[in-house]
Amino acid sequence: MTSPETDLVDAPVAATGSEWWRTAVIYQIYPRSFSDSSGDGIGDLPGITSRLDDLETLGVDALWLSPFQRSPQKDAGYDVSDYCDVDPLFGTLADFDDMLAGAHSRGIRVIVDLVPNHSSDQHVWFQEALAAAPGSPERARYLFREGRGLDGDVPPNNWESVFGGPAWSRVVEADGSLGQWYLHLFDSTQPDFDWSNPVVREEFRRILRFWLDRGVDGFRVDVAHGLVKAEGLPDHTPDPEGGSMGGDAADVPYWGQEGVHEVYRDWHELVAEYEGDRALCAEAWLPTPERTALWVRPDEMHQAFNFSYLETPWDAASLRDVVTSSLRAYGAVGAPSTWVLSNHDVVRHASRLALTAENPQGHGIGPNSPGKPVAELGLRRARAATTLMLALPGSAYLYQGEELGLPEVIELDDHVRQDPTWFRTGGERYGRDGCRVPIPWSSDAPAYGFSPTGDSWLPQPAEWAVLARDAQLADEASTLSLYRSLLASRRARHLGAGAVEWIEGLGDDVVAFRNGTVTVVANTGSTAVALPDGIVIASSAPVLGGTLPADAAVWLADD
Ligand code: NOJ
Repeated sequence: MTSPETDLVDAPVAATGSEWWRTAVIYQIYPRSFSDSSGDGIGDLPGITSRLDDLETLGVDALWLSPFQRSPQKDAGYDVSDYCDVDPLFGTLADFDDMLAGAHSRGIRVIVDLVPNHSSDQHVWFQEALAAAPGSPERARYLFREGRGLDGDVPPNNWESVFGGPAWSRVVEADGSLGQWYLHLFDSTQPDFDWSNPVVREEFRRILRFWLDRGVDGFRVDVAHGLVKAEGLPDHTPDPEGGSMGGDAADVPYWGQEGVHEVYRDWHELVAEYEGDRALCAEAWLPTPERTALWVRPDEMHQAFNFSYLETPWDAASLRDVVTSSLRAYGAVGAPSTWVLSNHDVVRHASRLALTAENPQGHGIGPNSPGKPVAELGLRRARAATTLMLALPGSAYLYQGEELGLPEVIELDDHVRQDPTWFRTGGERYGRDGCRVPIPWSSDAPAYGFSPTGDSWLPQPAEWAVLARDAQLADEASTLSLYRSLLASRRARHLGAGAVEWIEGLGDDVVAFRNGTVTVVANTGSTAVALPDGIVIASSAPVLGGTLPADAAVWLADD
């Protein structure tokens, strides 16, 4: 046994009042892949309602629902055609109300996705813009510009779509001639709004109020770093290493522009008018916690996803650094840090942590990708990484299926893929379908209980029978049991409201800290390490003889 030294790191501001979002564990539901009640192979709102008991048993504090609003589903709902209605694929507004009431009655909060950077091209505003003339108020709600070159056939600038290809598409005017171009930072079916137009600002205030009035507890704000573009839309030379959701946002004329903060100050005030601590969470891909912390200054949003943490490799020194810099950066503006390892845009961490080749965010992995992960190693590391993450103070996000240890699905046939990234890059990037496969509930049921008919919009792998929730429930060593025990202890011991006190001296490959009554030790190396004294209350792998094996993490308590 060692006698560790300790070093106190600035803690985030402790939870005050009922600011639930400072410490909450928030579970992301990707509705189309969670639970399908209608049998059409696509998950829906009644499906979510029917599984609320499972989520309560899991022990999460809140849910975040990816978009279920009306949408042609060109980007799985991140292309909204009516912000104030439910797409018939997912049910009705009444189904939403039932789901919300069911969650609230179990003490579970619900935040919904808001997509303000762009709409669907089927949104009535964009249809009106297409029908109207250049220079009209209808066009001024989006970013229409004349092309360059003699015939205007060169896009207005050189920006590239996050999904590949140019960020501009040209329209055919009413008289049949080729006309203006419109900006779409994502797919051509997702035209960007012009946030310098007050009409756009007013419309989003209305949308926020619509959902707040219905009782939602807050919003996850899509592309929260992208709404405002640099004056004059200047050219930009993208960094090829940048990652598809934004990468290094420094100096990119469409990410992180100063003017975007004004929008969130306005929303902060609007949200504060409502009772119950409604919250805003920024999806902002920025290079450092210091940059991201600008989105959670006291008069802006309440949380921002900590993508620096998500992108940190399974390496002790890097993990210590990112935890320290996150706690400092967010703490400095009075915000909690968040922690996240997986979501619907990234390779699931049960696979990502064992990749042996570079894999830029958003590219995905498929049959021909280099450096494919060894499944056992990935799962082992994922369990350890989650054990470490859930001991950290602040708020943590979980992505549906990670509690089952689901890996990325690599072997998807080309013809079933649906991510626009796949189409816009001609198959060069696999995209994100591999983390979106419908999740398994029952090992023996059709589609593993995802849908009553056995339909599933993406095929589920045969190996998932053993990962189904029912198969894991009774198994104390399962990943589901690990998550349940971590979540129960985190809640009972108030770890979300705690602080990190680093423990040194356990070895270079070890991350160790104390949070309240719990000592956390994670071993990222390849040999076992001796543990300090303590009672094992949770561990990602068996702890024998007072040592922690490689790629494992443990929680030790004094009592
Ligand atoms: C981020 C979302 O998480 C992603 O799924 C979507 O494709 C883009 N924003 C565009 O809305």
